[in-house]
Amino acid sequence: MSRTKTTARDIAMKGGGYYSSATAGAKDVIDGATPMVLEAIAAMDIPDDGSLFTMVDMGCADGGTSIGLVGTVLKEVRRRAPSRPIQMVYTDLPRNDFSQLFRMIHGQTDIASYFEDIPDLYVFASATSFHKAIFAPGTLHFGFTATASHYISQKLGVISNHVHMVGAQGAERAAYEAQGRKDWEVMLTNRARELVPGGRLALFNFGIDEDGRYLGNTGGISMFDTFSEIWAELVDQGAITQGEYVDTNFPQCYRTVAQFTAPLKDPGNPVYQAGLRLEHVETRIVPCPYAKAFGDHGDPARFAREYIPTLRSWSESTFMTGLSAERPLEERREIIARFYDAYQERVARAPEGHAMDYVHIYLICSKA
Ligand SMILES: C[S@@+](CC[C@H](N)C(=O)[O-])C[C@H]1O[C@@H](n2cnc3c(N)ncnc32)[C@H](O)[C@@H]1O
Repeated sequence: MSRTKTTARDIAMKGGGYYSSATAGAKDVIDGATPMVLEAIAAMDIPDDGSLFTMVDMGCADGGTSIGLVGTVLKEVRRRAPSRPIQMVYTDLPRNDFSQLFRMIHGQTDIASYFEDIPDLYVFASATSFHKAIFAPGTLHFGFTATASHYISQKLGVISNHVHMVGAQGAERAAYEAQGRKDWEVMLTNRARELVPGGRLALFNFGIDEDGRYLGNTGGISMFDTFSEIWAELVDQGAITQGEYVDTNFPQCYRTVAQFTAPLKDPGNPVYQAGLRLEHVETRIVPCPYAKAFGDHGDPARFAREYIPTLRSWSESTFMTGLSAERPLEERREIIARFYDAYQERVARAPEGHAMDYVHIYLICSKA
């Protein structure tokens, strides 16, 4: 059985609109930061000179979570520069459900789109990784990304005792941190090259805050520890092998505030030398909407039923690719269903402390 096989290439949000319909919290994160983004736009010089204005949403998934923010930003650009054609570019990895994105933009889903409200607007998509060059140099005006930069680009060594780097120790953890540092610098350097002078980036990233909190780990029951425990239980029950447990690692690195800001502050760093500057940084916790609703309705079974899909929307592909490819697809699907059922039962049995609170590090950067 192959080891360390889960790579960023394998990950994908669940398609067919499942991602944004099950991920209300990710939309809350973006919507809540709209004033911060508008402030960044307000600080930009956007002359009404008829030239093309380009915005990107990197790691857009099905686009449903950012639709409100993107519409607001594009309308503001249109207001300030009526003569400028606007190009909106959505990017994600090749396995992303871009079809769902375009159906939404063109009003073929139940999500309201901005597309018909903004004249002279051209919408495109790119499946080029944000770790690579996406745009020609000096052609991007405003770059946005939410909840995506934690995905690392390289296949790494295994995490033997956990499924995520937040539970890894020693050299295993150091390998993820090193890759995280490298990828972040590459991503920023590429964007620095692509931005026009005075262009801005709004980068909302999963990370580890000043109190050591991160996604699903804000004082209650840790979500990633629960994933790891239940996956290990499947080993004990003979449903999966120890090799498959070890093979299952999220291709992600959660960075601290210091790790996010270092390349933007160090004059010797290639990111700084490429002209990218830190305008603003802050951490925020956005509460899990499903745990919040449980506080109102008090029904553990309902909470469990509503909560598990949001975990599943982004984690399923990691557990699926951890399983041996020698197993028939149907068998792998049954194991995955059993895994999430077990999580749901845990939550229904003892709901207190379960919550996927979002912990984000928000950065606004400018190109000097
Ligand atoms: C958790 S989703 C976030 C989606 C959306 N931005 C939001 O905030 O709800 C992360 C997205 O990042 C994408 N992604 C991961 N690595 C990427 C890369 N190197 N380049 C582009 N997209 C990437 C994933 O495919 C996925 O769609």
